[in-house]
Amino acid sequence: MPGRPSQAPPFTPSAPSPYTPPPWPSPEAGAPASLLDPGTERDPHPLYRTLRGRFPLVYDEPFGAWLISRYADVRAALADPRLVAPSPGPVPAHGGAYRALASSALRDQVTAALRAGVERTAHVLASRLASRPEADLVADFCQWLPAAAAVAALGLPYEDTARVHAWCRTGLDHLGGRRPGLDAYLLPHVVRRRAHPGDDLLSVLCAARPDGHPLPDEAVTGLAGTVLGAAGETTARALASFLSGLLDHPRALGLIRDRPELAGAAWEESLRRDPPLQIVARRALEPIGPIPEGATVACLLGAAGRDPARFADPDRYDIFRADRGDLAYGSGQYYCPGAPLARLTAEAGLRALLTVLPDLRRAPGSRPRPEGLVSRSPRTLPVCPS
Ligand code: HEM
Repeated sequence: MPGRPSQAPPFTPSAPSPYTPPPWPSPEAGAPASLLDPGTERDPHPLYRTLRGRFPLVYDEPFGAWLISRYADVRAALADPRLVAPSPGPVPAHGGAYRALASSALRDQVTAALRAGVERTAHVLASRLASRPEADLVADFCQWLPAAAAVAALGLPYEDTARVHAWCRTGLDHLGGRRPGLDAYLLPHVVRRRAHPGDDLLSVLCAARPDGHPLPDEAVTGLAGTVLGAAGETTARALASFLSGLLDHPRALGLIRDRPELAGAAWEESLRRDPPLQIVARRALEPIGPIPEGATVACLLGAAGRDPARFADPDRYDIFRADRGDLAYGSGQYYCPGAPLARLTAEAGLRALLTVLPDLRRAPGSRPRPEGLVSRSPRTLPVCPS
């Protein structure tokens, strides 16, 4: 229950040391179930508990990866330079440097104009629901707002949101690996930005000269696709879990209505408890304990976020939790550069819903469960808007 501060001391972040594999379990320890076993997708938490308790490092043969589940281990592994992010597609020359460029541009991107644009869109989306007796918050709100935020960040036309939204939904994986048609759509915008730069992310990418020369067009469109792929679907899923959690905790919702400054803590608590990306993959550049070179390592963010060694009463949803410090945005060199934009989107979305739809509640009899092993959230959220 919210309202009661938890007992654990505040978490002070420190630089994680390199990942140190725990002692390898003896064969007598048996083997845990696999992530791919039936039932795990419906509720992965029993398996997460077993893994954290008895198998902090284990090879999941059906899944094809080494699983790391404890908070401290996941944090160390994510920041360990011997464990790198697998590339979503063919790696272009300078790929890492280009991504670093997009990341640093993104971090500086939350301008007042962008904030105003996201707030306006949130208000429009909420107002469209106002006259309806029933709506699906996932399809009608959660999926649109992050797409609109990414469109605004890149400086693409607002009226193209529906097109971009469709790509975010169907054409891109988390980091924009597949994007049929998107490059062709983006190219004329790149040409225009080169001639008439603005202060949006696309202009920043067009103006960049990482090695003394402008980025080629295909690098700019590729990076914009990466941003859209990473921004849209992940934030939409996080928003669905966030709103679903609050609809289940009307007292927390009431507190945020009276004290809007609590929305950020509620967002963080939702990301800790129900991260939209439950699993982040790494590839081992060299042997690490029993992990062979080239092996895939799965960092279980969903298990780490509920590790009782790190969080008091970890299954409890507590917006006053003192022991924050979740890993939903990753850690180390790949830490999500879109975190401020995602938070802004969530806060603006919640504020608009609370203002425009003060009686918003779950539709009677509906309680959709979260779904998905890697990306996890409720796929629908039927509500009565008024
Ligand atoms: C709640 C929303 C979000 C969550 C939970 C999230 C989570 C993550 C995680 C866990 C990673 C690291 C992946 C890894 O370690 O391999 C990541 C990377 C990334 N995210 Fe996000 N993300 C969110 C929203 C966004 C948004 C809104 C944007 C862009 C506007 C974005 C852009 C990126 C990019 C470009 C990367 C790659 C960074 C790199 O490779 O250096 N994300 N995100």
